[in-house]
Amino acid sequence: MKVKNICCIGAGYVGGPTMAVIAQKNPEIKVTIVDINEERINAWNDSDLSKLPIYEPGLAEIIKDTRGKNLFFSTEIDEAIDRSEMIFISVNTPTKTYGKGKGQAADLKYIELCARNIAKVATTDKIVVEKSTLPVRTAEAVKSILDNTGNGINFHILSNPEFLAEGTAIEDLLNPDRVLIGGESEEAIDSLAMVYNSWVPEDQILRTNIWSSELSKLTANAFLAQRVSSINAISELCEHTEANVDEVARAIGMDSRIGPKFLKASVGFGGSCFQKDILSLVYIARNYNLNEVADYWEQVIIMNDHQKRRFSDNLIKTLYNTVSGKKIALLGWAFKKDTNDTRESAAIYVADHLLNEQAQISVYDPKVPKQKVYADLNYLNTRSEKENETNVAVENSPYDAIDGAHAIAIMTEWDEFRNYDWEEIYNKMKKPAFVFDGRNILDKNKINKIGFKYYSIGQ
Ligand code: NAI
Repeated sequence: MKVKNICCIGAGYVGGPTMAVIAQKNPEIKVTIVDINEERINAWNDSDLSKLPIYEPGLAEIIKDTRGKNLFFSTEIDEAIDRSEMIFISVNTPTKTYGKGKGQAADLKYIELCARNIAKVATTDKIVVEKSTLPVRTAEAVKSILDNTGNGINFHILSNPEFLAEGTAIEDLLNPDRVLIGGESEEAIDSLAMVYNSWVPEDQILRTNIWSSELSKLTANAFLAQRVSSINAISELCEHTEANVDEVARAIGMDSRIGPKFLKASVGFGGSCFQKDILSLVYIARNYNLNEVADYWEQVIIMNDHQKRRFSDNLIKTLYNTVSGKKIALLGWAFKKDTNDTRESAAIYVADHLLNEQAQISVYDPKVPKQKVYADLNYLNTRSEKENETNVAVENSPYDAIDGAHAIAIMTEWDEFRNYDWEEIYNKMKKPAFVFDGRNILDKNKINKIGFKYYSIGQ
């Protein structure tokens, strides 16, 4: 069946860019993205494209091209569901913060609400596509809800996890390594494959059973994060042995069995997915009593927490064992460059640790607004909102952020940080002027020559 109307529930980092590209590549399909968050929908509809709720290179251009033609953003959820033959569920699936599985299991309440909503309003047969990352066997629950609370119509469930990376979302969507579709009904799979076929070659569309598809997404994220934790583990060893982690990464990455990607040592990975998806995998494994499997993957998280902690401990130790009353400038707050997403960003945890040691923090990030920085810190509940406001300054210019600082910590690998006038920065700082490069992006020789005391990861 050729689909004419698509609805996507969830206008977030995945729903927004994914549907924008689907709409651009399928001008004959009407794509409606719905969300309960009215503010977010209004931002997607803002005529000023710099106000879109998500920053991704290339996204604004596609929105400009498609919005109001065959791409629509709306809060009229029921209407969009009933009108569409295919409904993507792209809502958030965060780690549970309460009850059984707290701190590990994926919270599926938003998924269940979507399933119930679809069942309630649908009056014609639907293909329901799981776009969110879900624990393996979630489709069973979704199917049961749809079949038992619906109006006696047919639902086909597909799993179509998204592999885009924030910061390169559009590029990844336009040129995916593969598109994965899991399901039981060949016909339903064909319908979704046809949507992707508009720009993705057939041999890159992988068809599997639904459980393989669900589990593949968790597994992909676990493998990616594991590489980061692996190289970070080696970075600590490098610091004790005069080996250089960037050199080691290059040497092993040239081995075609290992490959060069995801071998950059850093202050630790962040983002909304890696941690939550590994925790979810660990929880699932424990549920099946597979304790060795669970312990194995849990170590990836333990290592990542260690790396973030080690970074701030090292900073404090180097600043003569105290940062109390000292100004520390954090360059970067986003979890990686080219995104405004800060979820699970290492910067949050490093700032929190330094604030516990009574440091004065100043923050500059080219894309993250002030309120977001405070919201992230307040969410941790470590101290009062007032204290966060008093002890953290968020600046609009990097030069204001570093003015009078004892130390700079580079938290995000934004390209612009490399090109700053580091001589001027040096002149504006307290001496000795320390730089802790959590991303290994600065030229060590140049920075040392200016007079900085420079510390990087694994060197
Ligand atoms: P997000 O939090 O940016 O967006 C989710 C949206 O769903 C929010 O705007 C929320 O208001 C909306 N929503 C929640 N419940 C709703 C309901 N009942 N009805 C209507 N709207 C509802 O989340 P994001 O980052 O887009 O992630 C979505 C899913 O995609 C998650 O499962 C995530 O693990 C997965 N994923 C995320 C990637 C990323 O890079 N962010 C990459 C690949 C997968």
